Amino acid sequence: MDFSKDKGYQFYFSWQDLFLIKKREKDRSRLFNLTRLFVKEEKSVLKNHRLFHQNIKAIYGDRGAQWLGDLPAIINLLADSWQLNQLEMSKNLSYHAVLTGIQKGQPIILKLGLNHQDLMREAVMLQAFQEYGGVKLLTQNKEQGALLMERAMPGYSLKLLFPNDEEEAIQITSQLMANMHRASVPSHVQIPTVNQWLATLDKDWSLPIHYLQKARKIKQYLSEKSLQSILLHGDLHHDNILAHKKGWVVIDPKGVIGEEVFDVAAFIRNPFPDLLLMSNVQNILYNRIHQFSKHLNMDPVRLYYWSYVYAILSTIWALEDGLDPENFIRFIEILDCSEYTNVFL
Ligand SMILES: Nc1ncnc2c1ncn2[C@@H]1O[C@H](COP(=O)(O)OP(=O)(O)O)[C@@H](O)[C@H]1O
Ligand SMILES: [Mg+2]
Repeated sequence: MDFSKDKGYQFYFSWQDLFLIKKREKDRSRLFNLTRLFVKEEKSVLKNHRLFHQNIKAIYGDRGAQWLGDLPAIINLLADSWQLNQLEMSKNLSYHAVLTGIQKGQPIILKLGLNHQDLMREAVMLQAFQEYGGVKLLTQNKEQGALLMERAMPGYSLKLLFPNDEEEAIQITSQLMANMHRASVPSHVQIPTVNQWLATLDKDWSLPIHYLQKARKIKQYLSEKSLQSILLHGDLHHDNILAHKKGWVVIDPKGVIGEEVFDVAAFIRNPFPDLLLMSNVQNILYNRIHQFSKHLNMDPVRLYYWSYVYAILSTIWALEDGLDPENFIRFIEILDCSEYTNVFL
């Protein structure tokens, strides 16, 4: 006999049974909520990783897809050889796989990429900036394309100060820059110069021709007056400046040789594209150029010019990587605005 269909069946439950049923229902709904939360979290991680996967495939094609497939095995191999525990993939991945973990009780970061040459150059740059505000590099593996470094703790980025604490962010970055720019140029590796980076401006690119022409003229103007060439970070923006202990530390140096003003340009257009959403973006940019030139005793006209040229360079790099240049072009439009340039030029 199928009791479940019998309405009278309910009466056979004791109060204790009913309590257990209620509890189970409650647990089920708690479990449901937890699962929902977990799925939501997983979805955002997956979405984040999806962007990373898209970037890697856009840049490296089949080789990228192969590398993404091989990644778990590479990570296992390095975890064994460097005795790493509790490895977890970070959420904000763009072009590199970045994992948090522990080595001998200390928090570490494992960074992996497909371009081994770039990563080895980053290792050399981290060593060069070690005493000048760069995060500590622990070791590297050229064959696997991996860096092991100290993890900044608590590790949140300077982006946290945007947009409410601009003055403080500019002050922190100015101090870091002044410190980093005392580092010596490593002698045992070839480091590109900003001028070499700028050579790409002479090629044809699918972006409005007047922007490209203006960048070429500015390049000419900037090269007429040669300032001292030093070792630069090359990509010093909010996400590459992390809170560490009671101060700030710099990560992810590209390493390029040029005049110090160039290093301000990456900050000027970041956080990207969030900056573009601000209704007072013009004021923010004006204030940044003004403040940096005051803190670091730089010519505001040169600072504006380098920011312009860097904005064009970033757009070209985005085009090269097969990424959508729309936001980049929007930023150039803002920088190009005549009212704005009149203030400085
Ligand atoms: N040493 C570190 N300590 C703490 N977090 C780090 C460290 N290195 C990287 N990260 C985190 O990983 C993110 C990406 O690392 P990054 O070296 O900037 O890679 P990418 O070259 O892809 O920009 C950083 O924005 C930061 O959140
Ligand atoms: Mg970075």
